Amino acid sequence: MNIIKKITNGIIPKHIAIIMDGNGRWALERGENRFYGHKQGVKTVFKIVEAAMKIDVKYLTLFAFSRENWGRPKHEIKKILQLLSSTIKENEKHFLRNKIKLKTIGNINDLPTLSQKLINQVVNKTKNNNKITIYLALSYSSKNEIIEAVKKIIKEKKYLDTEIDEELISQNLQTYKCPDPELLIRTSGEKRISNFLLWQIAYSELYFSKKKWPDFDAEELYMAIFEYQKRERRFGKTTEQIEKK
Ligand code: IPE
Ligand code: IPE
Ligand code: MG
Repeated sequence: MNIIKKITNGIIPKHIAIIMDGNGRWALERGENRFYGHKQGVKTVFKIVEAAMKIDVKYLTLFAFSRENWGRPKHEIKKILQLLSSTIKENEKHFLRNKIKLKTIGNINDLPTLSQKLINQVVNKTKNNNKITIYLALSYSSKNEIIEAVKKIIKEKKYLDTEIDEELISQNLQTYKCPDPELLIRTSGEKRISNFLLWQIAYSELYFSKKKWPDFDAEELYMAIFEYQKRERRFGKTTEQIEKK
């Protein structure tokens, strides 16, 4: 694939975050039920993880289930959660073979006990892998993550107000071990963040794909990276300052 050559000449983002959206609409367009879309979406996840590893992306954070998604019909929630935990369990060997570290962010305690158990087992078994880290966002709400960070800091009772800074907040988020994403992708044509990584994406480049998640592929991931590489990240400075460097 020519595009791989192109992008590997440039800087590959260390961390890419993806809002995997559009499973339901993808299925309905095909006269199928929403669950068919979620099943197809899982296949895309594996393809995209492989594509990311190929170009040495180090962290992928995937929005799989939001805290707000608990408001969906019970039968859809149940099926999504079953699909999630069975996929994770069935692919344990795949993760180990490919040195994939699986981690979760979000309120994992909200999940059914059995799902928690299955997921935690795989998280534990893959903890020493180092090719890529996948953060699966489950029952995740960014505002809630920030609230919890503030609560932790207050409970420790050892900080003066002058010591509360960006570093301290970042360290108390669930993503504290990884750099902020340089690139955030959302599929399905929606142009919103839906309470995902609000703090961490303060300076991320945003890429919105029209493709619904089951149709998203390696080619488009690489296109997103190509587009990212063409952008000028100014972090508040001027073009002249950036060019001088
Ligand atoms: C994303 O696809 C998956 C989850 C939110 C679990 P959707 O289920 O939101 O699909 P659309 O947006 O309804 O098409
Ligand atoms: C965001 O998608 C959450 C996930 C992709 C898991 P939604 O489909 O839930 O987002 P909204 O409701 O359209 O904003
Ligand atoms: Mg959606």
